[in-house]
Amino acid sequence: MALRDKVAIVTGGAQGIGREYCLRFAREGAAVVVADLRVDQAKAVASEIAAAGGQALAVTADVTDEASAEAMASRTVERFGRIDVLVNNAAIYYDLDLGNNTVDYLRQVLDVNLIGVLICSRAVFPHMKRQGGGSIINIASTAAYPNLQVSFRQQENFPNYAYGISKSAVVFLTKSMARTAGFDKVRVNAIAPGATMTEATKRVLPARAEERLRRTKAMGVSLEPEDLTGTAVFLASDDSAMMTGQTLVVDAGGVFNG
Ligand SMILES: NC(=O)c1ccc[n+]([C@@H]2O[C@H](COP(=O)([O-])OP(=O)(O)OC[C@H]3O[C@@H](n4cnc5c(N)ncnc54)[C@H](O)[C@@H]3O)[C@@H](O)[C@H]2O)c1
Repeated sequence: MALRDKVAIVTGGAQGIGREYCLRFAREGAAVVVADLRVDQAKAVASEIAAAGGQALAVTADVTDEASAEAMASRTVERFGRIDVLVNNAAIYYDLDLGNNTVDYLRQVLDVNLIGVLICSRAVFPHMKRQGGGSIINIASTAAYPNLQVSFRQQENFPNYAYGISKSAVVFLTKSMARTAGFDKVRVNAIAPGATMTEATKRVLPARAEERLRRTKAMGVSLEPEDLTGTAVFLASDDSAMMTGQTLVVDAGGVFNG
């Protein structure tokens, strides 16, 4: 078990890919804190882990609120004694309103998808520093790379590009945080998943666009949520001890970085 004795917080762990990270981390031996606004679903994930013999705690958390993020970190330490891993997975994705082109909405999406990453990282950092290290994993997206965004005819004016901007900035933030936290042995890496068949994707992405995206992939497939968990385990574990500031694209061969 790659994560034996580690304590991991997964924000947005109540559903979709976040839920899959929680279940896999628990199977790898970690105690898992399922942090989300959707508290009933978070509790269900924690119960599922406990029923399988693992350790889990559901916490109501709003990643945009500093007090809430600090409470999430302190409750984790109270219950499990430490924080080894933070997965900044929470985002406005299922709830994305693609038709909303207002600047107010752009600010709302950036607040959760970008600033939420910084807020939660700041909340766990003092604990990781005190312990002598930790691993922060930011969830970006291949939407950060415009060559993979779906093209469409412009209706009126430039849209607000909220989701792509937020995920592109997460890639940048990952590098900046890695530089700052390295001396304290806190590693910061990111995963950029390609289109993954969660309820959110089925809701947000038109079926035709999904088919077009799939055809751009070297492997010709879309991903299922569990396809992403191995990379998260690797970045959470000591196997990646000398990696920081990196974004790993997991998308069946659509974006070729490097
Ligand atoms: N599904 C995909 O195709 C795909 C592809 C690339 C990247 N991603 C990213 O992976 C992550 C998970 O994707 P998903 O498909 O499971 O999305 P999802 O929308 O189903 O899950 C996001 C979770 O974040 C929670 N959340 C939203 N705002 C929050 C807040 N302010 N505080 C706390 N929790 C909050 C939601 O309640 C939800 O449980 C997201 O960061 C998403 O952007 C998804």
